[in-house]
Amino acid sequence: MAILILPRDERTQPLRIVAGYPQTALRNPKQPLVRRPLTLSELTGPLEVAKRIKLLGGDIAGHGDEQAIGQLIHLKLRVLDEDGAPVGGTVVEVWQANGAGRYIHPNDDDHAPVDANFYGAARLVTDESGRFELRTVKPGAYPVPTKDGWWRPPHVHFSLFGKAWLSRLVTQMYFPGDPLNAQDRILNAVPDAEARQRLIAQLVAPGSEPYNALVYEHQIVLRGRTATPAQS
Ligand SMILES: [Fe+2]
Repeated sequence: MAILILPRDERTQPLRIVAGYPQTALRNPKQPLVRRPLTLSELTGPLEVAKRIKLLGGDIAGHGDEQAIGQLIHLKLRVLDEDGAPVGGTVVEVWQANGAGRYIHPNDDDHAPVDANFYGAARLVTDESGRFELRTVKPGAYPVPTKDGWWRPPHVHFSLFGKAWLSRLVTQMYFPGDPLNAQDRILNAVPDAEARQRLIAQLVAPGSEPYNALVYEHQIVLRGRTATPAQS
């Protein structure tokens, strides 16, 4: 299987070093990148990931009387390739803060309360039409511990595994119209405005199913001119 590794598009991908975002200096190489031949396992693995890992359901907003607190939302996503064709069989990991803006993670010692009925993460696989759906609550905004007043807007994290290890995409999805979007250092690290827009979901008109949740649609394009920017 031949896989063409395209050079990174600096205009539509985030800046490597972002002012005011200290972690970016640690996450990026200080030296120019060096090309090296790829090994067979890098090009072909992992095989049938969806069969080899445990999938965690597409409902993280609670069950029965034990519902998570917050605005119930239903996310309808689609994973596409550069030609707009659906990419089925893609393993997608999802994680987000609860309705108050707190993660289920020992490193999150924010003031916001934990929600015992909110699971916080899912691992799904796209169907043949590239779709997956998630029932959850709208994540809350949260302050970044840089002590200078930077708050992350509501967002959902995604990690997608393609047919090879190197086709992994880690990105985030934002909500339309949120005033915090305009000042978020991670979203705005993408220089190109159209590329930033590709990170923002669309609110679907009222009346679409399910009736008891706000429904958002979003598409993730794995590469090409309309690729979804990476967001870590
Ligand atoms: Fe986050």
